[in-house]
Amino acid sequence: MDNEHGEFLTEAEKDLMGGIDTSVPHSARIWNYWLGGKDNFAVDQEAGDEYARLFPGIFDLAKAERAFLGRAVRYLVTEAGVQQLLDVGTGLPTEDNTHQVAQSLASECRVVYVDNDPLVLAHARALLVGTPEGATHYIDADMRAPERIIAEAAKILDFSQPVGLLFMGVLGHITDYDEARSIVRRLMDVLPSGSYLALNDGTNTNPALNEAQQGYDDTGAVPYLLRTPEEIEGFFEDLEPVEPGIVPLPEWRPDLGHIGAENVDGVGGVARKP
Ligand SMILES: C[S@@+](CC[C@H](N)C(=O)[O-])C[C@H]1O[C@@H](n2cnc3c(N)ncnc32)[C@H](O)[C@@H]1O
Repeated sequence: MDNEHGEFLTEAEKDLMGGIDTSVPHSARIWNYWLGGKDNFAVDQEAGDEYARLFPGIFDLAKAERAFLGRAVRYLVTEAGVQQLLDVGTGLPTEDNTHQVAQSLASECRVVYVDNDPLVLAHARALLVGTPEGATHYIDADMRAPERIIAEAAKILDFSQPVGLLFMGVLGHITDYDEARSIVRRLMDVLPSGSYLALNDGTNTNPALNEAQQGYDDTGAVPYLLRTPEEIEGFFEDLEPVEPGIVPLPEWRPDLGHIGAENVDGVGGVARKP
């Protein structure tokens, strides 16, 4: 095995890299690259640059999705009074991570992250340190196994109290719509009334973006399906969307923080379980 510079790795480096495949691009690492982070490899940068060549707006979309996450968490903690968050598809630590936003507003917030990427796992151990009053926990799990996520999360979260469930730019990884809806539903089902779903995703509303996404899917990375705004709205079935509904990302409560970028092909919203 060698690294992205073509250099051979020492035994110790190989141990550190356990499970981390630098030969194919990974979603969490490319996302980190688009967000301006350093936790990515040459293969991710190449895939990220090729995507941006076809669709330069990807940097803005990543920023707008991340900014939406921050505003949604602020809404949940300050307006909805939620103090427990379950963030599925965490990504690599960056600025304004969910637990940092939540615990800066209410230090007792309990945050559980879920991701299945080995590099996210490695960083989570080192970086996701929360406030002493609250709790920050990481589950290494595939979202296709919601029952496992529930069992693990129940060690940290009290499921008799409202929980904010977050799917931020992740459900496109579940390309079967029924399966993706079932994952959201099975997690929402165990949460009490007064819980919330906060979700955003890129949309298939721009031919250049669709073309770039096709190229990405051909790299060997786990494919990502861009959906219509209506399909994304369908994830909120049986829930009560809070104002202004499921809308283009910059239009969702810009009063709560920065919007990252204007005019992006992505929608998001927050909805309450009745
Ligand atoms: C585009 S990133 C979004 C990261 C973060 N939510 C954000 O908004 O910045 C998608 C994340 O989903 C994770 N992911 C992909 N498939 C997954 C799966 N089956 N189960 C859990 N996480 C998954 C990836 O590892 C990656 O961290």
